[in-house]
Amino acid sequence: MAFEKVCTLDDVWEGDMEVFTTSSGVDVLLVGVEGGDVKAFQAMCPHQEIELVDGEFDGKVLTCKAHLWQFDCNTGKGINPSDCEIAEYPVKIQEEDVLVDVEGVEPCKSHS
Ligand code: FES
Repeated sequence: MAFEKVCTLDDVWEGDMEVFTTSSGVDVLLVGVEGGDVKAFQAMCPHQEIELVDGEFDGKVLTCKAHLWQFDCNTGKGINPSDCEIAEYPVKIQEEDVLVDVEGVEPCKSHS
């Protein structure tokens, strides 16, 4: 496990999302979910690899701008369609720093 700092809590407000790149070049989408948790997911939509950060996020549900696929940001599971998901990376908060571990997690892809 190799957690590394990608940003601070000030960079990801509740209801907000932003992309950060790890030292190994992996883009990570950080979302501030309703209730205060910070979650990290793959940055690309599993459908056709559009950047999810360009979509809409209401604090719970992330909607891809391209074809409006929706994902539950508490679990990464697809809502519509329900047979897809976005890969989640482990997050650790150390004081104000947000650390993410991308090792061994492969982004999901689905072209259904
Ligand atoms: S690329 Fe995201 S829904 Fe199609």
